Amino acid sequence: MQNTFLSNVLFPIFKPDFSRLAQRLHHKTIIITGASYGIGEALSYILADIDCRLILLARTTEKLQTIQHQLSTKKAQIEIFPIDLRNNEQIDHFLNHIEHNQIDILINNAGHSICRPIMQSLHRLHDFERTMQLNYFAQVKLCLALIPKLQQTLGQIINVSAINVLLAPTVNWAAYQASKTAFDQWLRCASAELENQNIKISTAYLPLVRTRMIEPTKLYDHVPALQPQQAATIICRLLLTRKHHYKPWWTIPAQLASVLFNPIWQKINYFYVKRKQC
Ligand SMILES: NC(=O)c1ccc[n+]([C@@H]2O[C@H](COP(=O)([O-])OP(=O)(O)OC[C@H]3O[C@@H](n4cnc5c(N)ncnc54)[C@H](OP(=O)(O)O)[C@@H]3O)[C@@H](O)[C@H]2O)c1
Repeated sequence: MQNTFLSNVLFPIFKPDFSRLAQRLHHKTIIITGASYGIGEALSYILADIDCRLILLARTTEKLQTIQHQLSTKKAQIEIFPIDLRNNEQIDHFLNHIEHNQIDILINNAGHSICRPIMQSLHRLHDFERTMQLNYFAQVKLCLALIPKLQQTLGQIINVSAINVLLAPTVNWAAYQASKTAFDQWLRCASAELENQNIKISTAYLPLVRTRMIEPTKLYDHVPALQPQQAATIICRLLLTRKHHYKPWWTIPAQLASVLFNPIWQKINYFYVKRKQC
């Protein structure tokens, strides 16, 4: 209850006008990666009420099939494509599959997070490779391949990012934060060029969202967080407004604090690690 109040204050959600959203997305083809669970699943359910075509990507075939079945009576045409986005051959296979299709919007949402101390990662280079493969290389590969199609349709790329990439780094999150920051930087570098090609770029810098991604981190059980439907609503707003980004209202003060109090923040991280090691 207290957490819900706090999360409403910290992350107020403004629903977009659904009829205007429906107009904007009318007959559009939208790719949503990571559509089987969490934010991507919630977004698929919202957009299913619009007369558009949704192409849903994720690994878990049965879950995608269930979603497709549950949405079969809705307005949207739902297509599913089971894929492991860490696998380049599978991405190529998907790209061949949509070769002759019009694509209007790419929502880069699939992601994987790892929370692990470096001292437990000494023999786990694969943690860093896996997060980069999914959270960075797969997203770049999809963007590069789809740019010509998005150019033709005056399309949009939406990146589902995390607010952490704009703030001071946090202990234990090296693999995840580095990979999310990598794609954020890539897209920020590319955005002027892409916007010159008439492709809109939008990034949702989301705070914590209560999905299975954060379940293993017990510390987050008592921290204010969005519900997946609220995060999906933020993405819907970006689809309607085509704005450059969503950030919580407190981002700029938090960024300032990240710079001004960086030495203190580093000390807090240091003592947190020390206490955990005792
Ligand atoms: N939860 C948060 O607190 C939070 C905060 C800020 C930003 N985000 C970002 O929001 C996005 C969605 O995360 P979520 O919280 O909704 O997590 P989630 O519930 O775990 O969903 C992640 C989605 O990505 C898919 N996925 C994972 N690995 C994949 C792979 N190798 N190939 C294809 N699809 C894969 C998953 O489906 P399968 O397992 O079926 O493949 C699932 O549909 C992520 O990019 C995450 O970084 C999350």
